[in-house]
Amino acid sequence: MEQMEKWWKQAVVYQIYPRSFQDSNGDGIGDLPGIIRRLEYLQTLGIDAIWLSPVCKSPQKDNGYDISDYQDIDPMFGTMEDMERLITEAKKRGIRIILDLVLNHSSDQHVWFQEARKSRESRYHDYYVWRDGVEGTPPNDMKAIFGGSCWEWVPEVGQYYFHQFAKEQPDLNWDNPAMRQEIYQMIRWWVDKGIGGFRLDVIDQIAKEPDQKITINGPKLHTYIRELSREAFWGHDLITVGEAWGADCDRAKLYSAPDESEFSMVFQFEHIGLDQEPGKEKWDLYPLDFVKLKQTFAKWQKELYGQGWNSLFWNNHDLPRIVSRWGNDGVYRVESAKMLAMVLHGMQGTPYIYQGEELGMTNADFTLDQYRDIETLNVYQERKAAGYSEAEILASIHAKSRDNARTPMQWSGEANAGFTTGLPWIAVNPNYQEIHAEQQMKDETSIFSCYQKLIALRKQYPVFIYGDFQLMYETHPDLFVYQRTWKGQKLFVYANFHGTEVAVPEWHIGDGTVLMHNYSDWKEGVLRPYEAYMVLL
Ligand code: GLC
Ligand code: CA
Repeated sequence: MEQMEKWWKQAVVYQIYPRSFQDSNGDGIGDLPGIIRRLEYLQTLGIDAIWLSPVCKSPQKDNGYDISDYQDIDPMFGTMEDMERLITEAKKRGIRIILDLVLNHSSDQHVWFQEARKSRESRYHDYYVWRDGVEGTPPNDMKAIFGGSCWEWVPEVGQYYFHQFAKEQPDLNWDNPAMRQEIYQMIRWWVDKGIGGFRLDVIDQIAKEPDQKITINGPKLHTYIRELSREAFWGHDLITVGEAWGADCDRAKLYSAPDESEFSMVFQFEHIGLDQEPGKEKWDLYPLDFVKLKQTFAKWQKELYGQGWNSLFWNNHDLPRIVSRWGNDGVYRVESAKMLAMVLHGMQGTPYIYQGEELGMTNADFTLDQYRDIETLNVYQERKAAGYSEAEILASIHAKSRDNARTPMQWSGEANAGFTTGLPWIAVNPNYQEIHAEQQMKDETSIFSCYQKLIALRKQYPVFIYGDFQLMYETHPDLFVYQRTWKGQKLFVYANFHGTEVAVPEWHIGDGTVLMHNYSDWKEGVLRPYEAYMVLL
């Protein structure tokens, strides 16, 4: 099948969570000058673009996912000049900056909302979602993702406003054309500044219909996204990726259609939900259904082939560390982190690496007082009130808290892992003396080096980009094996996903070239714990 060439199909994106990446002024919070200082590191890794979690002006109720000014930088992170310098300095190294657009809601401190809440007559009132009612009786019983009701009473206007997340994150009303135009203008302004792409936060929630209790996939969703794409993205060579928890394959084909009528691709989360109790919340822990995991990946690989484009990820700032989650963060940390990387990067799609993943950073292992995340603190209260035991709640938080991904980047074995000379806003993982970038950059067998090679391989062999996908041993309980084929070239990825040795039904190396292997020798006929290799035939 012919497939269109796009730079972002070959690209590997690196996600930075700015407040935890590199502090430059000793206030304990990562910032833009800190990122600039580390561009060389990212260039060495070989990535093509940085997805920057929000750095716009924000009261930081949800760490920047509550924006009060889309066209200003939060002083905590630096200045607009720092941002411009970051764009320029990154560009010199062939790296584009992807901005995180939070368009489903703003901060309640945004001037639009400040005006909107004063009077029904304000031109900004309709930029948000309001319903009449009486104080104490919300329009319906919808619950917010960060706890409590979706509705918040404002006495000045005698109405409730709608918020899917915290009450400090009022939902924007996408049915208002003036609001939409202001958003498009703002995006074009960023494009003119040299931004190379956008990640669209919870974009499948913009077309809400609260009267029908619809939050995701509202009936007008794709109409709005097409307008957004046309008005703000077209004519610029951007990478755009929507966050879409509600996407199935059919919807993802719309989102990522090759004509680029919507986005380049979406993040879909089907694989991410496979270790929670079906029909329940992420806090309801459940063993990973491994066979389902393989089948899920295989389905997405097949369905989108030639008809859309996948994003590939294990991690982001909302998810626990993959090596702790589905690998082994004890004795087999290095082997399992590399195995997970190979399995993911061998597939078709654009890989996203979340800061520290390339070092095999692990979950936080915090006590309750060390957590900072609004979602974590809320679920603790909610589940306490609902009668869950302390131990049960802590086990869930320990496994799934977003703070697992938010501990400071481990740069070196120095104090605070080289992240800050001050007091870090969130605790550094105590294992930083053992797990850090400085050591791994010197070591050819490190996890860092493995990621570096995977990125290079993708640029070298078109089979990584264009090859089709065939899952093998579909129902095998331990092996994750697949084959990619493109113009006579074959790529095999062989992996033992688990911690016990397994017999390998067939040996596919033949006279092929081993591109990568996470053990230093071979054991005939078996794969040892988390052993994985890639072969080109
Ligand atoms: C997305 C972000 C998450 C944020 C939420 C609300 O899911 O990734 O961090 O809390 O949207 O903006
Ligand atoms: Ca700082």
